Amino acid sequence: MLYYGTCYYPEHWTAEQAKQHIPLMKKAGINVVRMAEFAWCKFEPEAGRYRFDWLDPVIAALHEAGIATVLGTPTCIPPQWALQRYPGMLQVDADGRTRNPGARCHCCKNAPAYQALAEGIVREMARHYAAMDGVIGWQIDNEFGCHGTTRCYCGHCEKAFREWLIEKYATEEAVNEAWGTAFWGFDFRQWAEIPLPRTMPTGSNPGHWLDFVRFCSDTQIKFHKAQYDVLKGLCPDHFVTHNFMGRFGEIDYYKLSDHVDRACWDNYPDPWGDPYAPAYAHEITRSFKGTFWVMEEKSGPTGDASTGLLGEQPEPGQIRRWFWQAVANGADGIAFFRWRACLTGAEQYWHGILDHDGVPRRRYKEVRRTGEELAKVAPEIAGTRVEAKVALIRNFDTLWSSERQPGASGLSYDDHCFEMYRAVKRRGLNCDIVDTTADLSRYRAAIAPALSIVTEDLAQKLTAYVLAGGTLVLTPQSGTRTATNAMADVPKPGLLAELAGVTIEEVRPYHHGQTNEISFARGPLIAETCKVGTWVEMLECTTAEPIAECRDEPFASKPVIACNSHGKGSVYYMGVHLPPATLLTFLGSLLPQAPIQDLPAGVEVTQRTNGDKGLVFVINNSRERQPVVLDKQYPELLSGETVGPEVTIAKNGILILRA
Ligand code: GLA
Repeated sequence: MLYYGTCYYPEHWTAEQAKQHIPLMKKAGINVVRMAEFAWCKFEPEAGRYRFDWLDPVIAALHEAGIATVLGTPTCIPPQWALQRYPGMLQVDADGRTRNPGARCHCCKNAPAYQALAEGIVREMARHYAAMDGVIGWQIDNEFGCHGTTRCYCGHCEKAFREWLIEKYATEEAVNEAWGTAFWGFDFRQWAEIPLPRTMPTGSNPGHWLDFVRFCSDTQIKFHKAQYDVLKGLCPDHFVTHNFMGRFGEIDYYKLSDHVDRACWDNYPDPWGDPYAPAYAHEITRSFKGTFWVMEEKSGPTGDASTGLLGEQPEPGQIRRWFWQAVANGADGIAFFRWRACLTGAEQYWHGILDHDGVPRRRYKEVRRTGEELAKVAPEIAGTRVEAKVALIRNFDTLWSSERQPGASGLSYDDHCFEMYRAVKRRGLNCDIVDTTADLSRYRAAIAPALSIVTEDLAQKLTAYVLAGGTLVLTPQSGTRTATNAMADVPKPGLLAELAGVTIEEVRPYHHGQTNEISFARGPLIAETCKVGTWVEMLECTTAEPIAECRDEPFASKPVIACNSHGKGSVYYMGVHLPPATLLTFLGSLLPQAPIQDLPAGVEVTQRTNGDKGLVFVINNSRERQPVVLDKQYPELLSGETVGPEVTIAKNGILILRA
C-alpha cells in the first residue's frame, strides 16, 4: 500500500476547527497522519499522571474516515515541570553555556533523569496505543540532532564519553597511542583526565575529535534504541521509524537504521534550488532499507523559527512534482508537512496544505489532484522498488574526519559526494548511497569519493570487488588515514595504492582560486582540456595507465587521472575535481548505459521494478519545457496515452511509463 499523508497537530486546534479537518483530508485522498511528536506535556501534564483522552477521539475519528495514524514519541520536548525538577538535564554547548528551554531538542541524552522520563512516557504510550484501531506505527522522537544539538558538552556527556572510551580502548595507554597524544603533550594517566573537545585556543586533536563525534552519534542511537526496544516489545504489530534529515552528517544513519523498521526523511526542497538535491537525499534514505517514506514533505512556504522569515511559495505544480520525485526514487509513503499553518508558536510562518484560516486554496487543490493521480496508478506502483546498478560509498568516519580537516578551503566531503552523485543521476541512473560495510557485488560500478579512512579489511573488500569485475572510482584524498584519524605512514593512497596502481607524488591545494590545466590522453575526452583547482594530486603510475595529465609547469606531463586494470575489473583514480560538464562525460563513460540517454539538465529518469513489471518515471525539474527522446514508445499511465519516442515535457511535468 502507498501512503499519502499529512502531519497533523490536533493540539493546535479547537474541537470546532478540528471537525472540518477530517472530511477535507479524506477528500484529498489522505490515508495516514503523523501526530503527537511534540505533545509530551499533553500526555503527562504532571509527573506520572498520563492522559490520552485528548487524542484518542481524534485517532478514532480518523480511523473511521479510513485514515491511519503514526504516532511520534514526544521525547524531544519534556514538560516544563520536568525541567524545573531536573535542570541538570539541559544540554551544554562547546563554550560551556547551558542551552535554554522554551524551544526543542535542548535535553542531554546522557542525562539519567531525561533517559528515565523518556522511557516512562514511551512505555505508557506504547501500552495505551498497542491495540488501538488505526495506529499503525511510531516515529521515535523527531529529527535527532536538529538545530545543532547532536553534540553536547555537559558533565553527563564527559562521564559517558570516558565510559565509551574504556569500552573501546580498555587502557589509557591505548587511547594515547590511538590519538597520538605525544603531540602537544596530551598524554593521559587516568581516565578522569580526558576532557571533551570543547572550544579551545586552536583546533583539537583529530583522533580525540573523531572519537568524540562518534560517541555523540552513538549517544543518539542509544537513546533511540532504548525507545525502539520498548515499542517493539509492547507493539510488535506496529512499524517503528525515525525521521532522518537527508544529508545530515552528525549521526551515522547507517547504524541508526539498524534499529528502524522503515527509513523516513523530511524533505524541504528549495523551489529554485538544485533539483538533484532532493533526489540525493531520497536515494540516501532509500538505501538504508530498500524503500522509504518522506515523513514531512514541503507543501507551502517555509517560515524559519529562528529568523522569522517567510520562505518562497511553491509554484503551481511543484508540490505535485516533489511528491512524484519521491515516489520515482523509491518512496512508498509521503506525508505533507503540515496540514494547516499554525496560529501561534515559533513556526507561524511555516505553511502547510492549508493557510492559517483553514480555507482550501490552490495548494490544497494540488494535493487533492495529486491524490487522485496516485489513486489511479497506485496498483501499478505497489510492490515495485528501485534497483540501482551504481553505488556511491558515503562513510560517516570519513565525513567527520573531513569536517575537522577538509584540506583546502571550499572542500566539503559531502558536497563532493553530491557532485559525483549528480553526474550519475544526470545519466538517467539510480544510485544507492551505501556505507563501506555494504555488499558491493550487485553493483556494476562503485564510486568511493575521497574515502580517506581505509582499513585493511576495507582495502581487501574493494580489491575483491574489482577482481570480480567491478568498476571502482576513487578521488582525491583516498586512503590517506587510519581508523583513528592518524595519517597513514605509507605512500598515498595508502592501503589503496596497489589496487589503484598509483602513488601520489605531490599534492597541490589551491586556496586562492588558482587553477591548473589538464589534458586527456585517452578515453571519451581524448585531446580535450579543462581547468581544475581546489586540490590536485600528481600521480606516479606504478601499474596504472595515465588518462589525463597536467599541462602547467612545474608539473607538466604529470598524470592526474589513471586507470588500473585489475583482475576482471578496473580502478579509476581521479586526483582532481573535474568541472561538472567534464565529470559528466568522464564518469558517464565508466557507468552502465541507461535506456534513456542525453537527458537535458534537470530532467530526471528513474525506474521502479518488481521483476515482472517495470515503471520508468521521467520528471522535468527544470524551469522550461524540455524535449526528451525515449528509446521507444511507451504507455503513459497518468494520461492513459501512448507517448514517444520524441516527447516534450512541460515544466514540472511527469511521465510514468509502463516498461
Ligand atoms: C522539521 C521538523 C518539524 C518542523 C519542520 C518545519 O523538519 O521536523 O517539526 O519544525 O521542520 O520547520
